[in-house]
Amino acid sequence: MSDALVIRGGRPLQGTLPISGAKNAALPQMAAALLSDKPLTLLNLPHLSDVATMATLLAEHGVELELAQEGGASHLTLTAARVRSTVASYDLVRRMRASILVLGPLLARTGSAKVAMPGGCTIGARPIDLHLKGLRQLGATVELRDGFIDASAPHGLTGARIVLPIVSVGATETLMMAASLARGQTLLINAAREPEVQDLARCLVAMGAEISGIGTDTLVITGKPRLGAARHRVIVDRVEAGTYAIAAAITGGRLHLTGARRDDLPAFLQVLEDVGVEVGEDSDGILVGASNRRLTGVDLMTEPFPGFPTDLQAQMMALMAVADGASMITETIFENRFMHVPELCRLGANITVHNASAHVRGVMGLSGAPVMATDLRASAGLVVAGLAASGETIIHGADHLDRGYERLTEKLSRCGADIERMRLS
Ligand code: EPZ
Repeated sequence: MSDALVIRGGRPLQGTLPISGAKNAALPQMAAALLSDKPLTLLNLPHLSDVATMATLLAEHGVELELAQEGGASHLTLTAARVRSTVASYDLVRRMRASILVLGPLLARTGSAKVAMPGGCTIGARPIDLHLKGLRQLGATVELRDGFIDASAPHGLTGARIVLPIVSVGATETLMMAASLARGQTLLINAAREPEVQDLARCLVAMGAEISGIGTDTLVITGKPRLGAARHRVIVDRVEAGTYAIAAAITGGRLHLTGARRDDLPAFLQVLEDVGVEVGEDSDGILVGASNRRLTGVDLMTEPFPGFPTDLQAQMMALMAVADGASMITETIFENRFMHVPELCRLGANITVHNASAHVRGVMGLSGAPVMATDLRASAGLVVAGLAASGETIIHGADHLDRGYERLTEKLSRCGADIERMRLS
């Protein structure tokens, strides 16, 4: 039985809330350790269940992992001196789809990889055809059999010109890692520009890769015969920062989100300001505070970076649920990312979904109720809603939050939230 979070809402959040390292930057960088036989040290890694799952998977491939403490912070050194196994089991891929990120590095380093085919998940079908097509363009043979992706390139990969038909974070990461060890130059056109993709590119460059165009939609990767040792600091988690920014706004509070960077959240912070939230920045991070007027609903659409991030859509919907007037929230990245809607309605929100758009009619307030978390960001949306709701909200399925929010209850309690975790029998 999963844990539940119990929130007694209505308390404005105040104070300083430190933002952790980014999950979605950490996971591909951990996988990148497979590209080199020399150590990769990652600083600012968050303590999350997804990070632990990736560590377990890498250990199965023969990567040695060493966790060390330095000045109060922990960092992980990953050494893939020898790749022991090139098989990623269904058990781990099923637990975490991001396990697919070992495919490119394993193939590029050893000439073969067998990774269980990930299925769909609660937010959508999430195919991986672009990863596979790109690897084929780099010269690999890729077959699907017995539930596995069986990829081989016994004579190594060769650089190619690859045009991605849609922007994909994962496909960009897979191909960038694979191309780093390919012969010759790879041109990756219509690449994703998310801060996590840029951070992976910087990590690869620290390992000795040659990548230009970082931060643009065209990456030029000049393959190297081998990569070396590196030390890299993982960027802060913009989704965690955005979630707590909404927590400050929805409770009428004020938070200093230390470590957060305005440049990582351009469209999101613009929407917050349009809604009527005060947003500032200092050398330590971002300041977010409610103004004394009621928030107003605005329309928004999720898009690849620098557009509004899909990973903050559920949380923003919770805020729109209590704003004045109506707002239309359109999800363009994933086809089923509205699982939080019926749960928000249980708390008193007035939201109807039509195809890819949710029409939110703002209500004066939410009231606590038991709700069910279905995935990581849907759960985060319920947490911020619960923080604003009167009375008690019980969020079942709290384990989803452990995948992406480090010390969530502790961070929120320190800023004045009444939140606790309960083990239900
Ligand atoms: C990454 O997923 C993130 N995960 C997601 O975070 C995030 O929501 C997503 O990017 C979008 O920003 C990690 O970084 C580990 P995509 P990813 O490939 O790479 C379609 C969270 O809550 N597509 O950019 O899987 C796909 O179906 C998570 O932290 C194909 O059609 O996302 C989707 O519609 C959830 N074929 C769109 O592209 C492919 O081969 C974008 O997906 C690949 C993707």
